[in-house]
Formats: sequence, C-alpha cells, structure tokens
Amino acid sequence: MSVECREKIVDERAGSPIAAALLAHYDAHARTLAWRISPQQRAAGVRPDPYRVWLSEVMLQQTTVAAVTAYFNAFTARWPTVEALAAAPAEDVLAAWAGLGYYARARNLIACARAVAIEHGGRFPDTEAGLRALPGIGDYTAAAVAAIAFDRPSAVVDANVERVTARLFAIETPLPAARAAIRAKVAQMLPSDRPGDFAQAMMDLGATLCTPRNPSCLLCPVAAHCAARACGIAESLPVKPPKKAKPHRTGTAWWIEQAGQVLLVQRADKGMLGAMRALPDDGWSAGRNGDAVAPIPGQWTHINAAVAHVFTHFSLELSLALYRGPQIDKVAIENLNGASWWPVERIAEAGLPTVFAKAARIAIQHR
Ligand code: ADE
Repeated sequence: MSVECREKIVDERAGSPIAAALLAHYDAHARTLAWRISPQQRAAGVRPDPYRVWLSEVMLQQTTVAAVTAYFNAFTARWPTVEALAAAPAEDVLAAWAGLGYYARARNLIACARAVAIEHGGRFPDTEAGLRALPGIGDYTAAAVAAIAFDRPSAVVDANVERVTARLFAIETPLPAARAAIRAKVAQMLPSDRPGDFAQAMMDLGATLCTPRNPSCLLCPVAAHCAARACGIAESLPVKPPKKAKPHRTGTAWWIEQAGQVLLVQRADKGMLGAMRALPDDGWSAGRNGDAVAPIPGQWTHINAAVAHVFTHFSLELSLALYRGPQIDKVAIENLNGASWWPVERIAEAGLPTVFAKAARIAIQHR
C-alpha cells in the first residue's frame, strides 16, 4: 500500500464521524447480552449495574461470549451483589468458576469483591484510576468498567477493538508494537456523549462483521472510513507476530478411590490452577514434566496419555494411574496429603478445573 493512500484516508476521515456511524449501527443491531443495557434501555434512563459490568469484563478476558454467558447467569443468580460475592467462601467461588479457565481471575475476583465491599462500602469507584487501584483490575478492565458502567471517556481496547482500529487506520506495524498507536486512535475516535456504548459497538463490530477472516465489509457501517478497505488490505490486518511453538509437557494424575470416595487435594495458592480442588498429581507445571512417582506404594493401573489439554503456554499430555490396593488407612493418607475425600457420584460438584474433570471422567470409566 502506498503511504499516500493511507495518510490521505487517515487525515480526512479520522475522528467522530466514525463514532457517529458506529453508534447509529449499534442502536439498530446491538447484540443482546446477559450483562448489557441495550441502547434503548439506556435512552430510557436505565443505568448499568457496575457489579455486573465488572463481573462480565473479568469473565470475558480470554474467554468467548458463548462460554461466559452461562457462568455469568449462574454467578449473578447466586451472588446478585458485590457484597454477596464478597461474603461467599472462596472455595465456593473457585468451584463455581471451574471450567472457565485462567483461575487467577477467580482469586482476584474474590479479592476485588472484598475490597469493594469492605473499603468502598459496596460501591465501585467511578473513575478509571480508582478502579485500577483495586486488586486484580488491570488497564483493560479499569477502562472497560469506567466506560460501560460510568460513561467515562476511556479508550477500551480488547482484541476485537484492536482489529477494527488497525483496519480503520491501516496500521501495518505488527502487534504488540502497534498497541500504542491503536490506543491513540481509539482515544481520538471517542465520542464525548456515549463512550460506553461506543466501546461496546466497537466490540460488536469486531465480533460480528470485522472478523479476523472474511470480514463483511459490504455490511460494515464504517466501511467508507476504513483505510484498510480502501487499500484492499483489511483481511491482512492486524499484523500478528509469528506464533511461537508451544512446549509439550507430560504429567500423571492419581486416582485413589476407596468406599466410593476419591482423594482430592487443594492446589497451592500460587502457580498453575492455584487454590483449585484437583486430583493429586506428580508436579507437572508450565515449566517441567512430572516425575511420575506414585504418592503411595501399591498396585496401580496406568492409562498413558489419557488426557490431552492445551494451556496458553504449553500443551499437556496427562497420564492417569488408578490405585488398585491394598486397602489404605484413609485418615493417614488424608494427613499425608493435606487432602480430603470426595464422593465419586458427586464429582461434578467438586469444581475441578477442566484438565482434572477430563481425567476424572476417564478414571470413572476404568475403575
Ligand atoms: N468482550 C469483552 N467485553 C465485552 C462486552 N462488554 N461486550 C461484548 N463483548 C465483550
């Protein structure tokens, strides 16, 4: 693409006309989402509940709308206010989060709810800086909550917004170096009257029309403003850094069952799947393979590579070993592991992270 082509379009078309066109499209086509106040409700004076906005934004990090919806509904039914969430036992919240992944988010969620309830009288701060000071709230979440819950003019930049903006302004610098330029362009486009709806309209555009592949430019409300479209390069943007090959790890999980109960442990607070209930394992982590040494002597049935699971930074092949005897002293084992026994027929309620839930399913088939 010629420099003239890009610069001409950017100079002529940057700024609020984009926001106006996008908001008009959002008024007609906003997705109905469990946590969203529709533009019509907003126009009628309904204000978003900051608790629901915050909860949804934490859940939506690295997770799709489709995966989040059921969790959001379950959380808000069980804990309708930030005070209710703050008062909940941490283990209940972690178990309810099981399956959503990125478990540090759940630990931070609890810390943040408690800070809001105890230090802020149950009211979320209404500025980006005030929100950023809460535990577990990073730049993205602070901006998103400030804009969506409080209509603060914050630049909200998630992966969808990044793609839309890189295309509108034909930003060809590869990510992550392009982020500062993208943020500046989002700030430049911000409308003063509806920054919250603008953020959500950008997200919707990225999710529905300005998709990574085959963008629907013919339906796009801002196609006329789009430098990448004018130059025929929309689908190639944003330029991503080359994908790093993921390391591959191996580990073993231990299924120790007696009298209809299985031995579960609570993982260390820090590290992979921190503080989650789990099957005992052999210490595999993002940085190492497990040692496959059984936690107690006895007879074991081994199922090699029973579970394949992909984490963000590595893939894991988890083998499974089922304890076959002799009879063990349950109390002695419990003390040894700092563990507890859980009824096998209620394993679905244990709140196991997905990798261990998969392992438990296979163990139950083989016991
Ligand atoms: N992704 C992250 N936050 C979102 C929101 N508020 N609406 C839709 N998708 C999102």
